[in-house]
Amino acid sequence: MVDFPAACRIREVVISPPTVLAPMAGVTDALFRRLIRELGGCGLVMTEFVSSHGIVNAMRAGGRGRTLRYLAFAPDEHPISAQLFGADPQVMAEAARQCEAMGFDAVDINLGCPAGKVCRSNGGSGLLRDLPLLERILRAVRAAVRIPLTVKARSGWSEREIVAVTLAKLCEDCGVDGFALHPRTREQGFAGRADWRLIAEVKAAVRMPVIGNGDIFTPEDAVRMREQTGCDAVMIARAAAHNPWIFRQITEYVATGTYQRPSEADRYRLMRRYYSLLIEQRDPETVGKMKQFASHFTHGVRNGARLRAAIYQAREAAQILDAVDAFFARELEALPA
Ligand SMILES: Cc1cc2nc3c(=O)[nH]c(=O)nc-3n(C[C@H](O)[C@H](O)[C@H](O)COP(=O)(O)O)c2cc1C
Repeated sequence: MVDFPAACRIREVVISPPTVLAPMAGVTDALFRRLIRELGGCGLVMTEFVSSHGIVNAMRAGGRGRTLRYLAFAPDEHPISAQLFGADPQVMAEAARQCEAMGFDAVDINLGCPAGKVCRSNGGSGLLRDLPLLERILRAVRAAVRIPLTVKARSGWSEREIVAVTLAKLCEDCGVDGFALHPRTREQGFAGRADWRLIAEVKAAVRMPVIGNGDIFTPEDAVRMREQTGCDAVMIARAAAHNPWIFRQITEYVATGTYQRPSEADRYRLMRRYYSLLIEQRDPETVGKMKQFASHFTHGVRNGARLRAAIYQAREAAQILDAVDAFFARELEALPA
């Protein structure tokens, strides 16, 4: 038997199994989350990060504007958490109140985004360098909502400014209910490795649930992170985009010590399912999104580069579907019986 808890509780929100789909801008929209839900094994989903100013402006404009689309979710997505970014305490509080009114189970504050545009106005990982401002934001948001409040952070701005433990304690003092750590610095981007020792240090320093994130690519990694850090739940980003089966694989691995890998036919079904849902949605960005996901979903597919090339050349959604059908018809035919 593999040592992995059955669930993690963030106040009244039960995350069972204790696995979380990390927020990923441009990836974890309602459609992608639907795929993850259909495949199973994920205990909590999160929206991509959403601008607190965007939400507040959209509400003032009578609910119009693109931003609110990022907060759309289906009734069967619970538990679901909305992630906000921004650096104005009152705007963050108002945006959080809006998320609560929309029915989110929890609200999360982004302290990790490395994008210059976000950091320059002190949002995302910019707040890691301004803990007094962060404290004002946390207290304002905490006072504004009753639903659980969580934070997702990088470990600091740079190697010389690691603040993970101080930050987690500050969050707990301000009434934050759960803390997710991606232990890389802002300067690091995605280079090097996530320093899981920092997750263990945070876990030892606070009472609230700690969610470990960073460099989980296989079920074995998820179990190893839990063993090495004692974290209460694991959060997965990039691997979920390439391998949306990973949550189900973790459940299977924990129960049996082994897990199934998706076959080429499984990958075909997944791509077709996602593309068909996209087309049904009639989004003007459908073709762009199909091309973007081609790179995720062809990861590990035999001769995947050929399929990607065909998809990138196509101009219309129907052409892309035809390319997928033709490619897999050939590939599945070529597989040994
Ligand atoms: C394409 C992409 C978009 C991301 N968008 C967000 C985001 O909106 N909010 C956030 O907190 N982190 C975001 N992240 C960071 C991930 O949530 C996660 O912390 C990071 O990728 C490390 O986890 P991993 O090793 O499982 O990928 C993003 C990462 C990627 C690759």
